[in-house]
Amino acid sequence: MRKPLIAGNWKLHKTIREAVELAGELKRDLAGFTGADLLVCPPFIDLVPVAEELSGSSIALGAQDLFWEDSGAFTGAVSGPMLKEAGCSYVIVGHSERRAYFGDTDDVVNKKLNAAISSALTPILCVGESLEKREQKVTKEFLRKQLGADIRGIGAELISRIVVAYEPIWAIGTGRTASPQMAGETHHFIRELFAEHYDASIAANLRILYGGSVKPDNARVLIAEEDIDGFLIGGASLKADSFVKIARYSIM
Ligand code: PGA
Repeated sequence: MRKPLIAGNWKLHKTIREAVELAGELKRDLAGFTGADLLVCPPFIDLVPVAEELSGSSIALGAQDLFWEDSGAFTGAVSGPMLKEAGCSYVIVGHSERRAYFGDTDDVVNKKLNAAISSALTPILCVGESLEKREQKVTKEFLRKQLGADIRGIGAELISRIVVAYEPIWAIGTGRTASPQMAGETHHFIRELFAEHYDASIAANLRILYGGSVKPDNARVLIAEEDIDGFLIGGASLKADSFVKIARYSIM
């Protein structure tokens, strides 16, 4: 049985004060919530104060990125051991915004995945096609290539520690969600890819989140799809009310 994971990606939003306030609201509103694992991923600078605010709650903390080296002359970078000590248990890797604006190639994503795993952080590996690829009907070929490159060289015993997020780029922040059927089919295809690369049991246990304009009013129909195991939520995670609603609808 795969327990749903409901994750908020706060992106470049929330000053320390705002982040602590939102974390406090989530802690209060989701106290005693047990049906799904809960996670928030604030900006780096908010991590420590949010960890303090969330202490005593079951909401986990994650970062939005990491660098692949543990330490050294890498100005501006933050490493896995640093995130771990700050209270993180998860880290997003390969988000399409990192790939588009910060030059994260599949090679970089692969290094970051390895770094996350060796720091005992659970990576949330984001994959997804552009509108162009979807319209050209080459989504599957694209995902096969992207995923294959991202997980290259990672053995079966380590791959079971990752979470995948399928985020079609054309659905992120656009208000355009993949239909439940389209998302469900693509999730199923991703699961099959893991069965091909590894084995049926790794594929069956892999949590695959959907991301891209998830809102309280589409969460229920999306989570009803057999291969959708939770959400990576951007815009709707920035307000306690909508994040809490999505979490509650995901276990109904
Ligand atoms: P969105 O972002 O929910 O605002 O579309 C999702 C994401 O990029 O993780």
